[in-house]
Order: sequence, then C-alpha cells, then structure tokens
Amino acid sequence: MLSSPAAIGAALLTVLHLLVGSAVAGPLASPKRGLVYVPNNSTRQDDYIWTQQPSDLTWYYNYEASPSPVYSKISQSSFEFVPMLWGAPDNLSDTTFLKTVRSLVKDKGINISHVMAFNEPDGSMGAHGGSNIDPDKAAQVWVKNIIPLQEMNLRVGLPACTGAPSGLQWLKAFLDSCSKLVSTDGKTTNCTFDFVPIHWYGNFDGLASHLGEYSAEFPNKTMWVTEFNFDNQDLETTQAFYNMSTEYMDRLDSVGRYSLFGAFRSDVSNVGPNGAMLTAEGNLTDIGAWYLGRPATGVSPKPTSLALQIVAPQATVALGAIFATVSLLNF
Ligand SMILES: *[C@@H]1O[C@H](CO)[C@@H](O)[C@H](O)[C@H]1NC(C)=O
Ligand SMILES: *[C@@H]1O[C@H](CO)[C@@H](O)[C@H](O)[C@H]1NC(C)=O
Ligand SMILES: *[C@@H]1O[C@H](CO)[C@@H](O)[C@H](O)[C@H]1NC(C)=O
Ligand SMILES: *[C@@H]1O[C@H](CO)[C@@H](O)[C@H](O)[C@H]1NC(C)=O
Ligand SMILES: *[C@@H]1O[C@H](CO)[C@@H](O)[C@H](O)[C@H]1NC(C)=O
Ligand SMILES: *[C@@H]1O[C@H](CO)[C@@H](O)[C@H](O)[C@H]1NC(C)=O
Ligand SMILES: *[C@@H]1O[C@H](CO)[C@@H](O)[C@H](O)[C@H]1NC(C)=O
Ligand SMILES: *[C@@H]1O[C@H](CO)[C@@H](O)[C@H](O)[C@H]1NC(C)=O
Repeated sequence: MLSSPAAIGAALLTVLHLLVGSAVAGPLASPKRGLVYVPNNSTRQDDYIWTQQPSDLTWYYNYEASPSPVYSKISQSSFEFVPMLWGAPDNLSDTTFLKTVRSLVKDKGINISHVMAFNEPDGSMGAHGGSNIDPDKAAQVWVKNIIPLQEMNLRVGLPACTGAPSGLQWLKAFLDSCSKLVSTDGKTTNCTFDFVPIHWYGNFDGLASHLGEYSAEFPNKTMWVTEFNFDNQDLETTQAFYNMSTEYMDRLDSVGRYSLFGAFRSDVSNVGPNGAMLTAEGNLTDIGAWYLGRPATGVSPKPTSLALQIVAPQATVALGAIFATVSLLNF
C-alpha cells in the first residue's frame, strides 16, 4: 500500500505537516471538511457532536433537498447546508427539488450556494445506496431541476458516481444526453457544472489514482470527495489511510471539499468498525477527533465480533457489497 512514489511522498508530507503544522493550528485542521449526515433515530444525541466547538466541519449534506431540523438554526456561513437531488422522481418532469431549493432561498432566506445531484446513479438501489438511474432519464431531471438553479447562480455538482469504472462511463453518457436536450438545431450546447463529487472506498493509492483519472477527464474542475473511507481494515491501516488521504486532499488545490463516510457508531457501521468516527457508546474515536481538528482521544472503536474479520477487496468497494456481506454473515 505504501509502495508508490505518490504514497511515499504523501507519507513524508504527513510527517512534515505534523512537525510544522502542530505548532500552528490544531492537528491537521482543514476548512475543506464536511459532514455526511447519516442520522440514526435511536441515537439522536450524536447529532450534536459534529457541531460542538471546536469543530473543523464547515458544511454538510444529508442526501436530501432540505436542511436537517437539528442544524436548521445554524447559519450557512458557519455550517453550509448543500442540498442534494438524490434520485430521479417517478415523473421525470417533476420539479419538487427545484421548488424546494428555490423556496429555501426565496422564502426562508437561506443562502444556499451549492447543490449536488444524484447519489451513485450508476449503483443499484436498496441497501446498496445507489439511485440506479438511466443517464438519459437523469439528464431530463437535471434539465428541469438543476439548470434553473444555475440560472439563480447556484453552483452545481455533477452526479456523484460510485468509485467503479462504471462511474465515468455513466457521466459521459449523462453529459451526452444532457447536451442533446439543451442543444438546438445547428448549435451544440453542453450542460455545465462547477464541481465534480466523487466517492471512494479502498486504499490510498486507489484514491489518488481515482482523483487523477477524474482530473484528467474534467480538467480544471474542482473535486469534492463526498464519500470515502478504507473500509473493513484493521485500526492501524484505517488510521494510516485517514492520515494520508486527508493530508493529500488538504494539499491538492483540485480538491475543494471532502467528507469522510464515517459519522456514525462503530457497531452500526457499514464500512467496518474502525472506519467509524464514534464508538458503540457514541464517543469520538481517534479518527473522529482528528476529523474535527482535535487531538486523538485514544478511544478504540472496539470492533464488534461481527465486523471483525470481514476482509473487503482492496480496490473499489461499493457500499452495497459491504451491506450485502454484512447481511449474509449476520442472518
Ligand atoms: C440505529 O441504531 C440502532 C441502535 O444502535 C441499531 O440497532 C440500528 O441498526 C441502527 N440503524 C441503522 C439504520 O443503522
Ligand atoms: C426518524 O425520526 C423522524 C422524526 O421522528 C421520522 O420522521 C423518521 O421517519 C424516522 N426515520 C426512521 C428511519 O425511522
Ligand atoms: C408529470 O409532471 C408534470 C409537471 O408537473 C405534469 O404536467 C404531468 O401531468 C405529470 N405527469 C404525470 C403522468 O403525472
Ligand atoms: C452566500 O454564500 C456565498 C458562498 O458561500 C458567499 O460568497 C456570499 O457572501 C453569501 N451571501 C450572503 C448574503 O451571506
Ligand atoms: C461539449 O462537450 C464535448 C464533450 O466533452 C466537447 O467535445 C465539445 O467540444 C463541447 N462543446 C462545446 C460547444 O463546448
Ligand atoms: C485549464 O486552466 C489553464 C490555466 O487557467 C488553462 O490554460 C487551460 O486552457 C484550462 N484547460 C481547460 C481544458 O479548460
Ligand atoms: C496518524 O496521525 C496522527 C496525528 O494526527 C498520529 O498520532 C498517528 O500516529 C498517525 N497514525 C498513523 C497510522 O499514521
Ligand atoms: C464516553 O462518553 C461518556 C459520556 O459522554 C463518558 O462518560 C465516558 O467517560 C466516555 N468514555 C470514554 C472511554 O471516553
């Protein structure tokens, strides 16, 4: 895992950053960090952990169009909510998403400045977490819901595909369909976007190469890594991945924002217990504390027996595969 020059370079930089950075700011503090909010109704007290100061987190998304009630009193300038059009409505002409976001801006006076569209449209539905949308249909929904928001000067992200090779293919087909919808006879127009959300489950080399591949495909676009983790690894491997990937993304200008998929308890984690930012009791783990820009807690995630021995493939791992593996072992 540490064999590539990029990985070694990143490791060295981590050390340098620690030596230089720790005297200045908190441990590896970063303005790019956000919360992927994955609430669990039986542990609502955990919701407050992410916004308690000191916290590095400057933005969040919840896979929905509207802010989560628990954070709705916090200003956009301190904790920016980013609406997401998760999947395609049954009626492809439906504009509920557009109306909801427009109303947040116009009626509620919420300064929404970014929106995201479609969660893992190239991934399957259900437990897999993907929205499984045909690129052509997604383009129709985009034209109805997203383009009018661009006309209001909101910045928009491309659909967030899985880390699998199907992702880029899906995006190309989507952009092609979208262009056909907005072009008129004799004049080709492309659908536009401001940033590219990406997902990654796997090791650091894989993340770095995935970012490289997307940068090559979308030159000069900012990337937001909106879900990532090295799932189902031992604690040291998970922490080493966390350290290297956050340091790397903090340093890369092409990465505008990132959000670790891990804001939940280790006993209900679908990325393995060590990837979770909270213990089964709801205390911050080392990674959880680091992510908020605080010193290590020294609290172990305490792997449960179930997830202890699951070894996922080291390359791209769809969340769905993890769900499926856990379910198979569990039931
Ligand atoms: C929510 O938390 C409870 C208690 O820890 C757990 O049993 C349940 O599986 C969790 N739900 C999800 C969707 O993770
Ligand atoms: C969680 O609670 C909220 C508010 O009480 C409710 O609307 C929602 O349906 C619940 N979600 C689940 C998965 O139980
Ligand atoms: C789909 O939505 C559009 C726009 O709201 C509406 O005009 C149309 O009647 C709807 N179609 C169906 C089948 O509901
Ligand atoms: C709204 O948010 C944008 C981007 O975060 C910021 O540049 C702008 O100043 C904000 N506007 C207001 C009125 O707060
Ligand atoms: C539209 O996008 C295609 C594919 O990326 C590109 O080849 C073409 O030059 C673009 N056209 C315009 C008018 O920007
Ligand atoms: C990317 O940005 C550089 C510097 O601003 C510019 O020279 C180059 O043409 C841009 N490339 C594309 C594909 O837009
Ligand atoms: C990760 O970084 C922390 C400091 O932020 C350091 O204490 C820890 O040893 C590092 N762990 C690994 C496995 O690199
Ligand atoms: C976990 O949190 C609880 C409640 O906040 C606290 O009483 C307890 O000491 C913490 N445990 C550890 C190991 O930090």
